[in-house]
Amino acid sequence: MRLWIKHRKTTGQSSSAETEADEVLELLEEDAAAESRDGRKSGADSREPVIHLEHIVKRFNIGTENELEVLHGITMDIYDGDFICIVGESGSGKSTLMNQIGLLDHPTEGSYLMRGEDVSEASEDALAEIRNREIGFVFQTYNLIARTTALENVAMPMLYAGVPVEERMERAAQLLEMVGMADRMDHTPAELSGGQQQRVAIARAMANDPSIILADEPTGALDSQTSRTVMNLFHQLHEEQKRTIVMITHSTTLAEEAERVLTLVDGRIVGERRGSKADREHEFTLESKAAEKAEQEKEAQDHQIRPADSPKQRKTADQTDGVDDSEDGIR
Ligand SMILES: Nc1ncnc2c1ncn2[C@@H]1O[C@H](COP(=O)(O)OP(=O)(O)O)[C@@H](O)[C@H]1O
Ligand SMILES: [Mg+2]
Repeated sequence: MRLWIKHRKTTGQSSSAETEADEVLELLEEDAAAESRDGRKSGADSREPVIHLEHIVKRFNIGTENELEVLHGITMDIYDGDFICIVGESGSGKSTLMNQIGLLDHPTEGSYLMRGEDVSEASEDALAEIRNREIGFVFQTYNLIARTTALENVAMPMLYAGVPVEERMERAAQLLEMVGMADRMDHTPAELSGGQQQRVAIARAMANDPSIILADEPTGALDSQTSRTVMNLFHQLHEEQKRTIVMITHSTTLAEEAERVLTLVDGRIVGERRGSKADREHEFTLESKAAEKAEQEKEAQDHQIRPADSPKQRKTADQTDGVDDSEDGIR
């Protein structure tokens, strides 16, 4: 709240009607967002958010004829234990916003508070350290390292964090077990189906015990049954492991399962609501068992029919929509 007041003061110095209209709009958006959060009333929330974005603006190609403002002043809070889905049309700025939330890119304007500390101006090294400690990333096309086993992929972030080899191998094995991949630890990505690769990627995201998992269209390249299994894993991380989940998804059906659904239109959060299926966790658990079994059977069949690196497998691994899949700078 302190920073919000500061921001209003700063922008209040301008007499432009447009700036004032923007201010009112932002105030209304923030109030609506605060009130929609289960029982939390605007201004009465004494808890500190894990992440607070304050009027984040992101422009690309600044100073050139291709200059483009993609995020127009995003103000949002992420609280410990949230399950947030961000929905919006292609090109609305979801991945750009995720890069901001994930500290993968500096904002053009605005500030970012991580547990109350302003990290907007932090150095690359400092950001890498915060990311490594606090945030686990999951991408649409998995971004596993080829020719490296599932076990080594999951252990990799712990290497950067300085965890001794025995400890990281042991934890990687435990994480793979958690995602139901204990029997595939020695397989390379090309030897795994899309759903299996994503499960390895989720295990890898958990490697350094992050409080927040950020996922950019994690089910975007998967069929609906496999998507169900992956979504159930996120529910499990949220409910059993008490992780904060921020997921970007094209699937309006899956978004309904989140506690907070934020809608992004043309670089602005235009609404927040509670997912209509947010209270039906127990049903997911039951569904998850059935979906998991069905997927295992399907994968068993797939592996009989199709060799590890058939053209079909390569096509899936190569599917990309550009900006979503950049792993640059993550470690
Ligand atoms: N690095 C970049 N340089 C220039 N334009 C970009 C860059 N990243 C994203 N954009 C543009 O920003 C807009 C939003 O992209 P993105 O955040 O990927 O949308 P979404 O994930 O919702 O599909 C698009 O018009 C895209 O072309
Ligand atoms: Mg995207």
